[in-house]
Amino acid sequence: MEPKAHWEQVYRSKAPDQVSWYAPHLETSLKLIERAAVDKRSAVIDVGGGEATLVDDLLADGYERVSVLDLSQTAIDVARQRLGGKADQVGWYCADVITATLPQQYFDVWHDRAVFHFLTDETDRARYVQQVMRSVKRGGNVIISTFGPEGPQKCSGLDVMRYSADTLHNEFGRDFLLIESSTETHLTPWGATQQFLYCFCRIE
Ligand SMILES: C[S@@+](CC[C@H](N)C(=O)[O-])C[C@H]1O[C@@H](n2cnc3c(N)ncnc32)[C@H](O)[C@@H]1O
Repeated sequence: MEPKAHWEQVYRSKAPDQVSWYAPHLETSLKLIERAAVDKRSAVIDVGGGEATLVDDLLADGYERVSVLDLSQTAIDVARQRLGGKADQVGWYCADVITATLPQQYFDVWHDRAVFHFLTDETDRARYVQQVMRSVKRGGNVIISTFGPEGPQKCSGLDVMRYSADTLHNEFGRDFLLIESSTETHLTPWGATQQFLYCFCRIE
C-alpha cells in the first residue's frame, strides 16, 4: 500500500487517542520549540503533525506563524476541526515531506516527531535532509524525534529505523550542529513503553 493510503486508513479507522504515538500533549517537543524560538513571530513547522495537539499548544503559547504538514488529509481535517476558528491562523500542507513545495529559507524551527524514522530508504532520507536545507533558514533549529536504539522495530505495521544521537546526526551531516539530545520513554494508550530519541540541532 502506498504511504498516503496507509496513513489515511489509519486515521479513518482509529480515534486520535487510540494510536501508539498518542500523547495528550507533546511536552518535550513544546519545551524544545520554546527554547529554539523565543520570538513568538518565529516560523515553526510541525512535519507529520498528524492529529497531535502540538499545534494547539503552539497557538496557545502565542506563536503567530505555525505550519503543519502531513500526508493525511483526514488527520489535518481532525486537527483543523478541533482548532475551530483558530485553524485559519495555521499554514496547512497536505503533502509528502520529501516532495512538498515549501517556502525557501523561511522556517526558523522544523519539528518532526515520529516521521523521519519511517524513511527506510537512504535516498528518501537524503531528500528529506535536502528539504530541510531548502526550507529552514541558516541558523534555524531542527528538532527531530525518532525511535531510540531500544525503540520498536515497527510502528503502525511499517518498518522503522532506530537511531542513537550519533547515527541520527550522521544522517543530517556537517551543516547540522547537534546542540542537545535526550531519550524519553513513551507510554502507549495500552501501557506499552517505547524509547524515543530527541535531537535538537542548529543549521550552521
Ligand atoms: C507516528 S505519526 C506521528 C504524528 C505526530 N507527529 C505525533 O507525534 O503525534 C506519523 C505521522 O507522519 C505522517 N507521515 C508519514 N510519512 C509522511 C511523509 N512522507 N510526509 C508527510 N507526513 C508523513 C503520518 O500521516 C502521521 O501523521
